[in-house]
Order: sequence, then C-alpha cells, then structure tokens
Amino acid sequence: MLHIILLDCALELVPREITSLKQIQKHANRRGKKTNELLLDQTHHGQSMTKLSDYERRGRPDIIFLSLLSILETPLCKEGLLSVHLHLQDGQIIEVQPDVRLPRNYDRFVGLMEQLLLKGRVPPTGDPLLHFSDVSLGDLISKLREGSSNAKTLLAIEGGQKTSVENLRRLLPQDPTVPVIVGIGAFPHGDLSEETIEIFDASIELDKDVMMAWQVCAELLWVYSLSVGVVKTRYSAT
Ligand SMILES: C[S@@+](CC[C@H](N)C(=O)[O-])C[C@H]1O[C@@H](n2cnc3c(N)ncnc32)[C@H](O)[C@@H]1O
Repeated sequence: MLHIILLDCALELVPREITSLKQIQKHANRRGKKTNELLLDQTHHGQSMTKLSDYERRGRPDIIFLSLLSILETPLCKEGLLSVHLHLQDGQIIEVQPDVRLPRNYDRFVGLMEQLLLKGRVPPTGDPLLHFSDVSLGDLISKLREGSSNAKTLLAIEGGQKTSVENLRRLLPQDPTVPVIVGIGAFPHGDLSEETIEIFDASIELDKDVMMAWQVCAELLWVYSLSVGVVKTRYSAT
C-alpha cells in the first residue's frame, strides 16, 4: 500500500492578524463570506500576506488541489492501494478518504476546504470524506507502518539521495502488503524542518531541478503502480 503524506500543506483560513486589512475585507465582501471564513490564497491576499511570518510558504491551496487531482481516482487508488493524508503547517493531520471525488473546479475546491477547516470535516454529517485526525505526524507514520517490519518511509526532497527511476523501482517493494510511506512537501518555497526530515528513514531526490509537488506525487504513484503490478493487471485486462 502506498501512503502519501502531503507535508506542511500551504492550506489554512485567513489568520486573525490580517482579517482587518482592506484587501481581505474586499475579497470577503465579493465572496459573501466573513473574513475569517476565507481560505488564505496568495492570488487574492498576496499583499496582506507580507504581514504574516513565513508568508512565502503559506496560502497556496492550488498545490494541494493539483496534487490530490493527480493521485486520486487513479488505477492504484481504485485498487484500494493508496491512502492520502494532509499535514498542515500547524502540525494537524487531515485524513482523505481515497474514494472521495474532488471538484474539478478550483473555486469549488476552495469552498470545500473552507468547510473542512471551519467544521473539521466534510461533509458536516454522515461518513466523512475528509476529516481532521487527532494524531501527530510521528504517530501517523507509526500507525501506517504498524505490523510490518519491512515498511519503508521515504521523503522526496531536493538534496536527497539522487534516485533514478530504475533505482526507485528497486527501492519500492513488489509486495503491495508492505506499507510504503512517502512524504512530499505541499508548499511553494522554503524548507521542511529538521524534525520532519528526521522522521523519514530515507530522503530521495528525483529530478536534478526542483519539481512541483503534483509532479512528484504523479511520478511516485506511477512507479509504485508499476512495482506492485497494478499497471500490468489493469491495462491488459479485457
Ligand atoms: C516546490 S517544492 C517545495 C519547495 C522547497 N524548496 C522544497 O524543496 O521542499 C515541492 C515538494 O516537491 C518535492 N520535490 C521538489 N523537487 C524535488 C526533487 N528534485 N526530487 C524529489 N522531490 C522533490 C519536495 O517534497 C518538495 O517539498
């Protein structure tokens, strides 16, 4: 099973420190929402965000949108061999049901994330498709690797061990019952903390240049799908 954790997601509501700023108030009026119910987004709040600490790493929900679209509803996901978690910059964890069908439209995705961050779950009643889970990143990884002595934890990161696609295939188990936990940063600039980096057993660098999170997600998912035979069984199926 492949467990993807999007790390330090640039996903949060507009923080209180900047809700009184004109740019935020105007945007809230346009959307017909309260200022503290808006998803922080550099496209709309870039100028106001310069007042926030670490602003270069924050307010990019589109990274999470594109990453989730690239991994959900794939053949691996349909085979029940994928799990997805979002790790937020304040350390909270969101569990994504692999069978969730996300809106294809970005504005509708934003509305869904606002509901999630306000209510703690989506939909508000019934079985949750996305919900907050009361665990730390370390606890989550321990839980995902539970019961397997061969489980692998890999962090995709610039400056990690240079890893060709062939090496990646060799690194990944062919047995789908062995958990493979992969961390991928879902923020635009800056670095992961040493504390986060140390949670993973190995760090891998794919391309020699920086890659977008959704490209890393797609590449890992497809190499893993090849390794466990999902591509072969599904693509040749009649
Ligand atoms: C746009 S980067 C985030 C920027 C940040 N400077 C960094 O490298 O972490 C998005 C994420 O994609 C992954 N990534 C980017 N380039 C990579 C590469 N060449 N090899 C492996 N993973 C990469 C990392 O997990 C990174 O956090």
